[in-house]
Amino acid sequence: MTQLPENLPHYPLMDGPTPLQEMPRLREALLSEGQPCPHIFIKRDDLTGLAGGGNKTRKLEYLIGDALEKGADTVITAGAVQSNHARQTAAAAAKAGLQAHLILFETVGYDEPAYKSSGNLLLDRILGANIRLEPKGADARAVFEEVMNEIRDAGGTPYLIPVGGSNAVGSTAYAEVFLEIMSQAKTRGLNVDRIVHASGSLGTHAGLLAGRALAKSATRIHAVSVSKPDRASLLDELLEIANQTADRIGADPVGDEDVHVDFRHLGDGYGLPTTSMVSAVELVARTEGILLDPVYTGKGMAGLISSILNGEIPENETVVFLHTGGMPGLFAYPGAFN
Ligand SMILES: Cc1ncc(COP(=O)(O)O)c(C=O)c1O
Repeated sequence: MTQLPENLPHYPLMDGPTPLQEMPRLREALLSEGQPCPHIFIKRDDLTGLAGGGNKTRKLEYLIGDALEKGADTVITAGAVQSNHARQTAAAAAKAGLQAHLILFETVGYDEPAYKSSGNLLLDRILGANIRLEPKGADARAVFEEVMNEIRDAGGTPYLIPVGGSNAVGSTAYAEVFLEIMSQAKTRGLNVDRIVHASGSLGTHAGLLAGRALAKSATRIHAVSVSKPDRASLLDELLEIANQTADRIGADPVGDEDVHVDFRHLGDGYGLPTTSMVSAVELVARTEGILLDPVYTGKGMAGLISSILNGEIPENETVVFLHTGGMPGLFAYPGAFN
């Protein structure tokens, strides 16, 4: 079985593989719409086990490992007010005995009181992070510099984690997840034709592509964009992270032809609810008892459902939907689910 190099810095934040589960009642519900339906499985990376779980736990195992190796005592990261990545960074830092500084930008024009008091933001506070809220349009680079200088002036050693943990260090985790899915599928006699996932800051997508290249696999990586509006807005950055990750793990390069992204489910923008997201979240909750989230996996699942109902995915395929977490975000959007 293909494996990642063994010498990469790594700080363990979770135990063992997450479950790969079948979704028979979701499939039945889609079949009842009169369309043929592939076999659907779900990879439960919402169950990574760290303070609400999600894909960032995986990335943070490598990022915190790197920070510790570099002698840092403080991590800084940034995101939207309801960033799952920020919440997971706060939790990972707590577990590793590091300080966490979160710079949260008010970039999402979503107006519900809970958005600025509940969900991930509430958990960030409970996890003991230093939180700095910045208005839309703030100069991110200047704010980062200021926070770094404040930490250094106080005698600390900061380590900067990019938005979403999306660089070659963090994305290595999703190369690992690609291999984990392949290994779980093999044990169960499954051939995975397609992995569908929500894509934001591109690190998950880049890592999956690098893992696929390492395994020399034909499994299609099918991303649903919840942030970037079109191919031109993401291709260069995605390939850069994917190829830096591929290089880091000794995989062949990733090319333009490996990139498949559906841009039809973004709606009015990042973090703004859509009716298809609400329907997807409710359908998966009511058929499988699994909670998705309003910003990422709800839109990702809306993409998968609509591709199935439009006949874009052959019925003889086996599809894995990668649940990347985010459930705490539901509590920031109560009005969307009325
Ligand atoms: C729940 C959830 N799913 C998916 C993503 C997207 O992952 P990436 O930023 O690596 O594209 C994120 C990113 O914050 C997330 O929080």
